[in-house]
Amino acid sequence: MEPRKILQLLADGRFHSGTELAGHLHVSRAAVWKQIEQLRELQVAVNSVRGRGYRLPGGMVLIDADLVRAAMPAPARELLAELDIRDMVDSTNSVAQSRVRAGAAHGYCCLAEFQSSGRGRRGRNWVSPYGAGICMTVVWEFLGGVAALEGLSLAVGVAVAEALEDAGVPVRLKWPNDLLLADAKLGGILIELGGDAGGTCQAIIGIGINVALPEDAAGSIDQAWADLRNAATRDRNLLAGKVLGRLLPALATFAGSGLAPFRERWSARDALRGRLVEVRAGAEPWSGIADGIDRQGGLRVLAPGGEQVVRGGEVTVRPREVPDAAG
Ligand code: BTN
Repeated sequence: MEPRKILQLLADGRFHSGTELAGHLHVSRAAVWKQIEQLRELQVAVNSVRGRGYRLPGGMVLIDADLVRAAMPAPARELLAELDIRDMVDSTNSVAQSRVRAGAAHGYCCLAEFQSSGRGRRGRNWVSPYGAGICMTVVWEFLGGVAALEGLSLAVGVAVAEALEDAGVPVRLKWPNDLLLADAKLGGILIELGGDAGGTCQAIIGIGINVALPEDAAGSIDQAWADLRNAATRDRNLLAGKVLGRLLPALATFAGSGLAPFRERWSARDALRGRLVEVRAGAEPWSGIADGIDRQGGLRVLAPGGEQVVRGGEVTVRPREVPDAAG
């Protein structure tokens, strides 16, 4: 099934009868019903009301390459070598990996409406119902091996946060690169590396942003989540264009100067600084007060035994223990 066609008819958010949809699609009403069921399997919320037909509450704007490009400033557009818009994929990072295997892919970007096996950090899955968010992967080639890429994910976080701010969404960054809206997770970044670990390597930079998650899909997310349903914009073409508009120049800057130009910008959006956090990196979890990032992008944590720098692992915010009033 090609969901795009029926979604284009339902995109206006109004009711359309089964007969009308069947006429436009040149199929039977039973086939329309089947397609509606398949949309529901892709976690698209479709209302059906007897006598009125079907509608998508709130409508849906599908990703359109021209609209994405139009939302990008001209200098960034020049850095975009290829914009590959897909309907349904397993993971845009996997699509980008295949593209890398096929040949030079510097400046390639894949955007998809739906991922069946979206990947998150630390082996988690990333929930991406059809048309509900931004699923984007950009490939960028760096010289100097993987060692030069330490801190890249923080620079990417800064670029995406600035793009969202340009669109009127005030986000903060949770180390290393979660995008938070009002302390709940709005988006995430997953960077995978290919190529020669000591020479030319490709960063496969996956970015997921929740735009309007249907309630039943959101039920399968195991942490506090946010989307843009109450934000200044939910226009995915505009948002994707703005993200690329900030990201591509940021990657060029990172290639030349590393993390340095991004450190202050990261700190200005640091959601953890001064908070009690729990770090899970080795065998035993431990706690301390988050104290910003170091020059390489590690998280500084003030622990009872002195300052520690965390370079990998999972950091969660812990509520401060309230002192016992009686004591
Ligand atoms: C995280 O766990 O915070 C990272 C989430 C990254 C999700 C994005 S969606 C586009 C790209 N394709 C994937 O399979 N994952 C990333």
